[in-house]
Amino acid sequence: MSKRVFNFSAGPCTLPLEALEEAQKEFTNYMDSGMSVIEMSHRGKEYDKTHMEAMALTKEVFGVPDEFEVMFLQGGATLQFSMIPMNILKKGEKAGYVNSGAWAKKALADAKIYGDAYSAWDGNEVNLTRMPKTEEIKIQENTRYLHVTSNETIGGIRMIEWPDVGVPLVGDMSSDFMSRPIPWEKFDLVYGGAQKNLGPAGLTVVFIRKKLLEETNRDIGVYLRYDIHAAKDSMYNTPPVFAIYIMGKVMKWMKSLGGLEAIQKKAEEKAELLYNYIDNSGGYYRNPMDKEYRSLMNIVYRLPSEELEAKFIAEAKENELIGLKGHRSVGGCRASCYNAMPLEGVEALKAFMEKFKAENPA
Ligand SMILES: Cc1ncc(COP(=O)(O)O)c(C=O)c1O
Repeated sequence: MSKRVFNFSAGPCTLPLEALEEAQKEFTNYMDSGMSVIEMSHRGKEYDKTHMEAMALTKEVFGVPDEFEVMFLQGGATLQFSMIPMNILKKGEKAGYVNSGAWAKKALADAKIYGDAYSAWDGNEVNLTRMPKTEEIKIQENTRYLHVTSNETIGGIRMIEWPDVGVPLVGDMSSDFMSRPIPWEKFDLVYGGAQKNLGPAGLTVVFIRKKLLEETNRDIGVYLRYDIHAAKDSMYNTPPVFAIYIMGKVMKWMKSLGGLEAIQKKAEEKAELLYNYIDNSGGYYRNPMDKEYRSLMNIVYRLPSEELEAKFIAEAKENELIGLKGHRSVGGCRASCYNAMPLEGVEALKAFMEKFKAENPA
């Protein structure tokens, strides 16, 4: 295949072509070193520059205040499900979780292994079609933090109102990182896997409030300790060098687009185009989520039957629109429209949906 497809995968996912091509050009001889970035010492001057630049750009584009430290870790967002309670929870303290879908449920299950974690709101009562309003969240006494999942990648819903419940927030932002500004004043910790809007898999970005860092637990294995990673600029051990290197390029690309507000606008425009079409398709395509809470990144929809869904996904692939199958746990279709998905990709998908509907009546 000579040209690139429109890739709607939920993550790993499409990345900016500019970043990929730049990496390709310099791959075998990085910074005139005679080697690639994945062959050189992570303690050498070339990698050190790459690492520190990626960190600085990350802080700049995310608008991270000075009170926060940035860490580049491994183990995916999944390891954070454990690291957060291991580092933060003290004896007698509790942790509340907004149980908004598949990812929140996993985060809560892991937290229960390490501490007194509880569901502060159960989205199953509304069939996981929306996020909670602040007044619906029930915080128990001695709660250290409330964990929220800003965007449920599988369910296709997102938070539109950050809970104001009198305890600091901890946020899994894996699937809408960098698609809207973060209200830093409400959070003590924000994290996410890189493999959606930030770069390749293998890197997890964690932002932690410095004050909290002073108080983290120290009686855990060394890799699990936030204080160690932060003190060593995320180079306590060998970092995921390739993923960090690419992320630096993605950050540069995002900055060139005009930063978070500009990116958010583009995300809104793409999502609106698709949701409008779905809502006006006479019920042929259906999105069952509460309209207000629909995800801008992961747009889920059903067709009149599972047979038509399978046909739709197969024919879309023939038309170079790939990654449209919904998560195996819920079925249906899902178009993930991350930052690097151009508007033309979403327009092409919409045109294909129209054609498919005309050719395959319910
Ligand atoms: C919202 C959310 N949280 C957590 C995860 C798990 O991330 P990882 O695979 O990086 O462990 C994912 C993965 O898709 C996700 O979408």
